Amino acid sequence: MNEAAIRWISGPVLRAVTRDPFRIHEAVHVGAKGVLGEVIRLHGEEITVQLFEDGTGLKPGDPVQGQEAPLSVRLGPGLLGNIFDGLLRSLSGEGRDFLLPGRFLLPAGRFHLTPLVEPGRILKGGDPFAEARLAPDAHAAQLCLVPPDRAGEVVTMAGRGEYADDEPVLTLRDGQGRNLQVAMSHSWPVRVPRPVAKRLPVDPPLLTGQRILDCLFPVARGGKAMVPGGFGTGKTVLLETIAKWCDAEVIIYLGCGERGNEMAGVLDEFPRLEDPKTGRPLMERMVVIANTSNMPVAAREASVYTGITVAEYFRDQGLRVALMADSTSRWAEALREVSGRLGELPGEGGYPAYLSTRLAEFYERAARVTTLSGKNGSLTVMGAVSPPSSDFSEPVTIHTKRYVRNFWALDRKRAQARFYPAIDPISSYSEDADVLALWWSKQGAPAWAAQRRRFLTLLEEQTRLERMARILGKDALPPGQRLTLLCAELINDGFLRQSAFSVKDRYASPRKQIRMMGLLTRFMERAEAAVGSGVAVERIAALPILRRLQRMGEDIAEEEYERFDALEQMLEADFGALSGPSGEEKPS
Ligand SMILES: Nc1ncnc2c1ncn2[C@@H]1O[C@H](COP(=O)(O)OP(=O)(O)O)[C@@H](O)[C@H]1O
Ligand SMILES: [Mg+2]
Repeated sequence: MNEAAIRWISGPVLRAVTRDPFRIHEAVHVGAKGVLGEVIRLHGEEITVQLFEDGTGLKPGDPVQGQEAPLSVRLGPGLLGNIFDGLLRSLSGEGRDFLLPGRFLLPAGRFHLTPLVEPGRILKGGDPFAEARLAPDAHAAQLCLVPPDRAGEVVTMAGRGEYADDEPVLTLRDGQGRNLQVAMSHSWPVRVPRPVAKRLPVDPPLLTGQRILDCLFPVARGGKAMVPGGFGTGKTVLLETIAKWCDAEVIIYLGCGERGNEMAGVLDEFPRLEDPKTGRPLMERMVVIANTSNMPVAAREASVYTGITVAEYFRDQGLRVALMADSTSRWAEALREVSGRLGELPGEGGYPAYLSTRLAEFYERAARVTTLSGKNGSLTVMGAVSPPSSDFSEPVTIHTKRYVRNFWALDRKRAQARFYPAIDPISSYSEDADVLALWWSKQGAPAWAAQRRRFLTLLEEQTRLERMARILGKDALPPGQRLTLLCAELINDGFLRQSAFSVKDRYASPRKQIRMMGLLTRFMERAEAAVGSGVAVERIAALPILRRLQRMGEDIAEEEYERFDALEQMLEADFGALSGPSGEEKPS
């Protein structure tokens, strides 16, 4: 085993002298307590180590012991339904259950196995060989995979029964005639992306139930989105809302370096939530990684890699996975602190020059893929960014923007006006939208792309016209422009606004979104025609249907589609009355 002795230590980093062949990223145990760390630099007879656990009390001369392997996590059936720290140690097990109100504590470690293979079968890396269940009659099964770097012919396969997740249940004979033992769980180094057979183009949408996302700034399965926003603009609520409602099969929620109370929603509320689709506890298809600000800063780095590795593991089972990371800025700050203590030359904002590469590598792990075993899986990544004083020109925002395809910018003014979600429709964008139009078309909304463009154009116009109106006064604008302002307001209130706390409106199905988009478009068409034929904008603004459209998201629940039909009739009737005999404006 490689050994070294501490020469210098400062907070989460230390330097140690050695004659042994340590490797970069090798995991180490430091001091008598065996504090976990990782080699981050090799320099002649000196190694630099970052500590993932509290190093208080460590001093020069204390031993550093190499583990001959990079920082790795155990991936297996024990992950789902549980809460872990950034090093994937259970926070929901014995003695730690203050974090979880009992109900969803999963028995750690033992699972019911159903074999899927027999002796003689040739298995390659990533192939499923068994199913694991919490109980013999449990409906939900997880696949047990051959580790990606193993392969061979099945020599023995354990029979149906209960086993510990790290107990060998499968013996493979590899090409050299060696026997390999495989358990339900296997270990994987977190910094190494898990291999896939093929990366596929992103598609179809990862539906979130949030209108402003699904219709204006949609993210595709396998896509990558960032949520930049100043303090209190709604990043956490948005990511939590997506975690609850998006149509991923497995959710990985990563709290990275935020204060404990910021994670309270996930830790207190999620264990009590029902999955709207199945009525089962939502936590059954979630893994929560809770790295809070009171943990050593370097653990944030570990938590980010751990989270994405766990997410890839579920993707490799052919599942649709979504990972929410809140907040990647805390990870970047940890990189800055470690780099600063090492005396590295600081780049912009004091961040190390490699910040950009790290962000790129992280988001690169989002993808839709063909797995090693030939299934389709996807991993969609959404990361919050917390720019200090909402300054989007700071390095973490700028660099992240280079690597994501979706930019969901939270706007302080909107948040202050309690307009939620406070996503700014002007600076936000989606590079996935064009690809996804086909999917909406197949859902019976061939006009989706055109309507979306129309909404976006109108919202841009609004910004321009409001600027003019501030100078000239609103009344100085010609009727057509006043109508644009009216319609833009309607889209904001009647479509984009959606409270995460409204029982009827916190989730909108594609069908509801299509109906609402269609009604609003119809309103605009009729209003434009009416103004074109001389009807005063004020009369349109006074139509009863306008109030009803503004509130329809809140008013009409998912199953009440006939109420949309009623609104449509009301809309036609209201406009019909406008163009009646007394409706026409007298030409002056
Ligand atoms: N979508 C939403 N619907 C309703 N209220 C929201 C929404 N988003 C944010 N809020 C309100 O704003 C507060 C701050 O949001 P939060 O997500 O904690 O901000 P951040 O994580 O950006 O600091 C929340 O406690 C909530 O009251
Ligand atoms: Mg937050």
